[in-house]
Amino acid sequence: MLKPESERFLLNIGAHLTGELQDVEPVRVLGVHLKHFRNISLGTWFPGEAFNVLSGANGSGKTNWIEALGVMSMRRSFRAAPRADWIQAGAPLAELSFKLKLREGIKRLDLQIRAAGKIEYAFEGVRWHKEASLPYLFPVEVFHPGDAALIGDADSIRRDFLDTLLVSIDPSFSRIHQRYQKTLASRNRLFRLGRYERVLHRPYERLLAESASLIIAAREGLIRNLIPTVQAVIAELHAEPVEVRLCYVPTLPKDSEAALKTYEQSFNDEKRLGFTRKGPHADRCYFELAGRGARYQASAGQARMLVLALKLAAFALRARAHGRLPVLLLDDVTSELDERKRQRLFEVLARLECQVFITTTHPSYIQVSAQRADVHVAHGVLAPL
Ligand SMILES: Nc1ncnc2c1ncn2[C@@H]1O[C@H](COP(=O)(O)OP(=O)(O)OP(=O)(O)O)[C@@H](O)[C@H]1O
Ligand SMILES: [Mg+2]
Repeated sequence: MLKPESERFLLNIGAHLTGELQDVEPVRVLGVHLKHFRNISLGTWFPGEAFNVLSGANGSGKTNWIEALGVMSMRRSFRAAPRADWIQAGAPLAELSFKLKLREGIKRLDLQIRAAGKIEYAFEGVRWHKEASLPYLFPVEVFHPGDAALIGDADSIRRDFLDTLLVSIDPSFSRIHQRYQKTLASRNRLFRLGRYERVLHRPYERLLAESASLIIAAREGLIRNLIPTVQAVIAELHAEPVEVRLCYVPTLPKDSEAALKTYEQSFNDEKRLGFTRKGPHADRCYFELAGRGARYQASAGQARMLVLALKLAAFALRARAHGRLPVLLLDDVTSELDERKRQRLFEVLARLECQVFITTTHPSYIQVSAQRADVHVAHGVLAPL
């Protein structure tokens, strides 16, 4: 159960969202055991219930420890590293074993990663094939320095962020998205093979148009819910309010019949190009701060604040959707934030009832005193500070 003040915070930053907060429960990592993961040969950790601060020199293994938590929940690295890189150099496989406090009770989750990239889960000691349910069962929300790309040039990174968040809120979105991607690949294959018969293309175009209209509606709906929350978080972190917009410009009309017509009309163009140019895979998606493109407008600190607010808004949305507070992984969150924003960020985080893991080169940068557990990392080895 949440404390009244954290409930107020979530209500404040997510007032527009539906769902009962009374039922929201934090997910907690009670124990972690790692073997041959990155530079961690063997290590066991019993993290604190609230704030866990990992400090140590550059290259000591702080990010590796929280990356392991992310890998367990997301089946991928938040650093986008290939699976083979997760395994300690020279070892045949990596093993991760977690004790988790979930809504379902205290559960054990194990993961084996093999050099060929094969991964295998066990739940309560039994081989488990329901990994797709992990974003709901054991949700984690991550902030790490590479997330700065969310404000960068590539619209695809923002589209992926929206789509991944949609999947973590509503499993049915995953099916729509996969159907779209498969159909897109099939139609592009026709172009590659030089098959331009309209009779071959039309069934794919209908499927694309139908899935596209669902994807566009879902993304627009998510942005409508997300941005007021982002705005509210920024207002909490920042003294003055900043106007944030996430501009989404679909390349197809939302109506599926109109989208089908667009495919019909742009067929000759796409034939010349040799691929499907229009659709949710090509939509424009960019941030504006105070009416100007954030890419060139935002300072490094403002960009970081925007990304942080985005992640906290996603956190609130997921908490409401599934009645469980994700675990927060914050990798090197304090750099580029000025003293005042750092203080405000920690005030905000302290009001959330979730478990937080935060890395830093020096523990004094983390201005949190209550419910704090410090560990020091050197050569992958954790020691209480
Ligand atoms: N597969 C691997 N096998 C062995 N060592 C690895 C492997 N992958 C990464 N490392 C080592 O892990 C270290 C990096 O760890 P990590 O990124 O966690 O550092 P960090 O403490 O977060 O540093 P910083 O403060 O610079 O962010 C490097 O020394 C790197 O060589
Ligand atoms: Mg690091």
